[in-house]
Amino acid sequence: MPINRRQMLAGTAAAFAMIGGVPVMLHAEKAGDGFTELKIQKVPRVILEGGKESRLWTYNGENPGPEIRVKRHDQVKVRLVNGLDEPTMLHWHGIRIDNAMDGSPLTQNPVQPGEAFEYMFTAPDAGTYWYHPHIGSSRQVEHGLYGALIVEEKTPPADTEELTLVLDDWLINDDGTINQEGFGDIRMAAHGGRLGNWFTVNGQSRPRLAAPAGKRLRLRLISCANARIMNLQIKGAEPYIVALDGQPLTAARALGADPLQLGPGGRADLMIRRASDEIILANLNRANEPLEVAYVDRTGDQGEADTGDMAALPGNGLPASLDIAGVTPSELVMEGGAMGGLAGAKLRGRDVEMRELVKNGMAWAFNGVAGMTEEPFVSLKKGDTAVFDFVNKTAWPHAMHLHGHHVLPLTIDDKPIADHDWRDTVVMSANSRMRVAFVADNPGKWMLHCHMLEHQAAGMMTWINVEI
Ligand code: C2O
Ligand code: CU
Repeated sequence: MPINRRQMLAGTAAAFAMIGGVPVMLHAEKAGDGFTELKIQKVPRVILEGGKESRLWTYNGENPGPEIRVKRHDQVKVRLVNGLDEPTMLHWHGIRIDNAMDGSPLTQNPVQPGEAFEYMFTAPDAGTYWYHPHIGSSRQVEHGLYGALIVEEKTPPADTEELTLVLDDWLINDDGTINQEGFGDIRMAAHGGRLGNWFTVNGQSRPRLAAPAGKRLRLRLISCANARIMNLQIKGAEPYIVALDGQPLTAARALGADPLQLGPGGRADLMIRRASDEIILANLNRANEPLEVAYVDRTGDQGEADTGDMAALPGNGLPASLDIAGVTPSELVMEGGAMGGLAGAKLRGRDVEMRELVKNGMAWAFNGVAGMTEEPFVSLKKGDTAVFDFVNKTAWPHAMHLHGHHVLPLTIDDKPIADHDWRDTVVMSANSRMRVAFVADNPGKWMLHCHMLEHQAAGMMTWINVEI
């Protein structure tokens, strides 16, 4: 079935029976020892109305997993219990925490079936983050393993209601079950990755949510899609972007007419004025048609017209700009994929031809190496300012993600970027280059990879070392 055909049908059909279900965000229960337990359980769930049940992989039986919510500088204490029959681990995406708690294969051994692992860290930054497995990610995330991590400001914006919207697209078969053939499919991995045909918000198709008209509304959008770059439209409101990838913008910025682009793993916090109009969230498909994915009813009285200022959120201490004079950029050349003409690359220390790469499930390379390297892409000293040039020599967009830091995108194709927004995941178009800079202030071993999970698995993965 062509991508998105199903949802185009769903968008027009009155037979579509979803209305009424309101997703409930469970705030995770805390056990007596202060740990929130996230227990992986497989649960049968109907994804497509009228379709067959799929076995979702969930934290505590829920999709998305329980929302974990703390205040800035509070401790997050989570006990992961692995109820899968394969290893897993938990990565805290975008949050600049202690390296030992990052939950990547560089920082911990996989948590084996039946075993548990305790994550404990202080949340350094307020913002919208999320958690997901970092081993077998393409299968584990696609089966439903992800959830929101919300770190509240010490003083959150006044008179503001908020909704967390966890967005995902699933690749399902005609009978409604999760497509299994796609996992490990090298063709898919060499193209755009696993692009779904069924969209959910907070685990439901086209949910109808509610928020008071008499308060401002903060939407926390989180994309947990494996590979899709979302282009979101908000109808019925004129939202302001106040944070991207968790980090506040220096000034609230009107979204305007352009769609909001959210790469896999990306987040945006939007602020919306008091009003009683229904808000419709839509995602543009490849034909640029908006497919409605969620609704928010504004209930009660709006009160007097909301003409007040849209204030910026309090910052997390990241500077407004970086001085990169004298810093030698490190170049990361991204190659491979369909129509990429990659002849071969290094695989586990050996030079191999493309045909053999493919046999090993690889289709992409960073600086001539497919898959994880022994040596880091760069080694930095704590406090160093680093400049990376991502050179995308492929026919595909990518979403480059660095762990443990946020980066400041400076140029695209050598042209300066006007907006200085700190990001942990940057979307790059095909055949483009992007320069980013950051201060390596967080010691440890940090992964740097494409967040299109099939691209990552098929070779787009390296790491950096920050020494104390
Ligand atoms: Cu959200 Cu390395 O991942
Ligand atoms: Cu990619």
